[in-house]
Amino acid sequence: MTHHAPSQPLTIEARGPLVGRIAVPGDKSISHRSLMLSALAVGESRIEGLLEGEDVLATAAALRAMGATIVKEPAVAGGGGRAMGTAAPRGEDAVWRVHGVGVGGLMQPAQALDMGNSGTSTRLLMGLVASHPITATFTGDASLSGRPMGRVIEPLARMGADITASPGSEGKGGRLPLMLRGLCPAVPIEYTLPVASAQVKSAILLAGLNTPGVTRVIEPVATRDHSERMLAGFGATITVEDSPAGKVIAIHGEAELKPQHIVVPGDPSSAAFWLVAASVVPGSDVVVANVGLNPTRTGLIAALRMMGADIVELDPRVVGGEPVADLRVRHAPLSAIEVPPDLAPSMIDEYPALFVAAAFAAGRTVARGAHELRVKESDRIAAMAAALGACGVPLEEHEDGMTVTGSSGEAIPGGATIASLLDHRIAMSMTVAGLHARRPVTIDDVAPVATSYPTFFTSLDALTGRAA
Ligand code: S3P
Repeated sequence: MTHHAPSQPLTIEARGPLVGRIAVPGDKSISHRSLMLSALAVGESRIEGLLEGEDVLATAAALRAMGATIVKEPAVAGGGGRAMGTAAPRGEDAVWRVHGVGVGGLMQPAQALDMGNSGTSTRLLMGLVASHPITATFTGDASLSGRPMGRVIEPLARMGADITASPGSEGKGGRLPLMLRGLCPAVPIEYTLPVASAQVKSAILLAGLNTPGVTRVIEPVATRDHSERMLAGFGATITVEDSPAGKVIAIHGEAELKPQHIVVPGDPSSAAFWLVAASVVPGSDVVVANVGLNPTRTGLIAALRMMGADIVELDPRVVGGEPVADLRVRHAPLSAIEVPPDLAPSMIDEYPALFVAAAFAAGRTVARGAHELRVKESDRIAAMAAALGACGVPLEEHEDGMTVTGSSGEAIPGGATIASLLDHRIAMSMTVAGLHARRPVTIDDVAPVATSYPTFFTSLDALTGRAA
């Protein structure tokens, strides 16, 4: 039962400058993990700053279906009860309380688990179920049902899970809907990641939590490390060592997790849209408060700075074990760059926004080595090439990226209707492109924005002086 919000077309006319201060909602990756680990701790965890996007709510619903109690407590007027380090205005002041079932305590869900649009929910929860004596069916929307699950099926099957993917999808690497029968006790493995994927790494580590012995993941290319940080924070025995083959991450199984008070920092992947918008719309001066700056996530900031962006970090601090700062970004002329391919893992979700920045830079920006973009919520290379191309931006699509010829700061032609393809980041990126276009840009459906950034358009209105 996957619900489809009705299509929500939106036409963006040029506007600006963007001026003011906004806070971005909680980090999506950290929000998923905070719910999952809290659901496995014994006792009550509290989560502040949780992203209340559809993807994270899908994770919450699935964990409830497997026995966890998850309740949202509305914010106390006046902001009382805030945890340390959250003095900045926050989008979400509510506290979420989670009563966990203990590692190994997940229960048989009565119905299929509806993952909606969320790859992170699907792949991480598959890991959790894999080492529990339960069977779960995972379903999702049209976008998610086209995404490769073989990358998690393969290691989880080695640990003993029995997985039946959608008939006919085997040759394509396995697709939803799929049924996963966990094995308890599962078999610990040592697994070298064939693709740089934090979701695959996390699925194996989460399966390892309830597996006797030591489960090891070897990561030749570093990806976001929120799972490792949070597992350690919950009291699991986890070690990370460098080796010639890459990072070796070892989790000791049959762990007991202790409940925590978690403060989720703001999502750098959501901040990305404001960093690009303020950089390209003349006269802009924006402070994006509470942005998580985990070094495995800051590739876009590095790339934009190479292009000449004016981004300053204010009030650097640590929130919930993650580095955080407020980012002040002012309009600046951007120059084309060759995006270093080794930045790819730390900006993998930010390429659509980077392609928009490139559309306004002086010269030809070349981004290669980002093949994974083709298996995100949409094929983001094809989607952005089609969308920017329709808006009159000269570009060349490559198998693993794109070359974009920018406008040297001028407005792009615009005047097109583009397809967001059930992909939130395409919808938000093209909204930003439309802010500095000669003719309006219509997005056929902005409903997917609610998966990761439900307040995106409210913040856009606030920054452009159109607050209700
Ligand atoms: C995520 C990992 C990345 C990223 C996704 C969130 C995570 O996916 O694109 O938005 O939370 O672990 P991959 O693991 O497929 O690279």
